[in-house]
Amino acid sequence: MKTYAIAVLPGDGIGPEVIAQAVRVLEAVGERFELRFAFETLPIGAAAVAVANNPLPPETRAAVLRSDAVLLGAVGDPRLDGAPRELRPESGLLALRQLLHVYANLRPVAVHPALVACSPLKAERLRGVDVLVVRELTGGLYYGEPRGRDATRAVNTLVYTAAEVERVARVAFAAARGRRRLVTSVDKANVLEVSQLWRETVTRVARDYPEVRLEHCYVDTAAMRLVSDPATFDVILTENMFGDILSDEAAVLAGSLGLLPSASLGAGPGLFEPVHGSAPPLAGRDVANPIGAIATAALLLRDGLKLGDAAESVDAAVAAALDAGARTEDIALPGEPSIGTVEMGSRITECIVAEALEGGGLA
Ligand code: NAD
Ligand code: IPM
Ligand code: MN
Repeated sequence: MKTYAIAVLPGDGIGPEVIAQAVRVLEAVGERFELRFAFETLPIGAAAVAVANNPLPPETRAAVLRSDAVLLGAVGDPRLDGAPRELRPESGLLALRQLLHVYANLRPVAVHPALVACSPLKAERLRGVDVLVVRELTGGLYYGEPRGRDATRAVNTLVYTAAEVERVARVAFAAARGRRRLVTSVDKANVLEVSQLWRETVTRVARDYPEVRLEHCYVDTAAMRLVSDPATFDVILTENMFGDILSDEAAVLAGSLGLLPSASLGAGPGLFEPVHGSAPPLAGRDVANPIGAIATAALLLRDGLKLGDAAESVDAAVAAALDAGARTEDIALPGEPSIGTVEMGSRITECIVAEALEGGGLA
């Protein structure tokens, strides 16, 4: 039996709390499908600064490189907000993405029928919403040189090469092929040279995918359309910072940022992290929603380890727990009772055990 090596990087704030539930679910699914996982837990972010004075210490680097997949919670600690760039928790995450060359960040957003009322949007706007944001993750403003600042002036650089645009565009078109076959490429080509190169490159790549329709949309309009007419999107392809912003906006469709998972893919081991951050005000209170992390574990199984049946089982367990009324605070309607992070993990784990007892897909 193959052992899958999973590097677990809980990180900061609510990261360790939601990742503990995701690991529990992976253990349950491992038992159900007779899979063997070897979890190795390593520090990143502020937790790593505390023990190694480095947000991505060498042991963490080495472990992720020899893993089959990386599961990350979140980084960020307000106590380090004023720290120099190399000691910021976020720098550890950016360095990790670069180290793993995970240039394509996939952020699926769907609306679970039981959670329609959690979104501030009208129910009819949410009908048919099923969006996949494909966010370029290792280029753009986050990484461009030169960058720096003095007391009165600061600079960041937005730079993309055609090769960087092309490889992430191919991921988006390939994904669209298995979905509703529409790619909306989001840019600011009316102003930015980088976006003009982006648009030209995506248009060229589209010729290799004749069955997929391509449309271009300016980012300001895309931001509006995402809340006024979200069902008109299938795959949204965009650059690093636009994708960061639009995916948090898209979380409003699902009902809570705490629900959204993501997969960051490149050539080597994938990096799997919920879309949300360390949510410092929620940390240590057993209130964070672990579903984003658990759904991330499903993406790790499907996209990282190619274990489609196990991934389905996790998604089905999340849906079953929600259907049965399990709600953390963020997705409970006024007056509705809510449960904590650990209890939500228990409910979902129980659903996996129940699926196994019902006999579906036992290995
Ligand atoms: P955040 O995502 O932590 O929180 C935004 C809002 O969503 C808050 O209201 C929070 O309470 C809520 N929320 C987030 N996750 C939730 C969950 N699982 N359950 C219920 N509610 C949830 O963003 P922020 O407050 O802007 O940033 C906090 C820190 O996290 C910062 O240091 C930031 O840099 C960092 N951050 C890290 C990541 C990451 O590691 N991938 C992502 C975003 C932000
Ligand atoms: C995310 C986060 C990160 C990003 C930060 C923490 C660097 O917001 O994963 O969405 O901007 O990529
Ligand atoms: Mn973000």
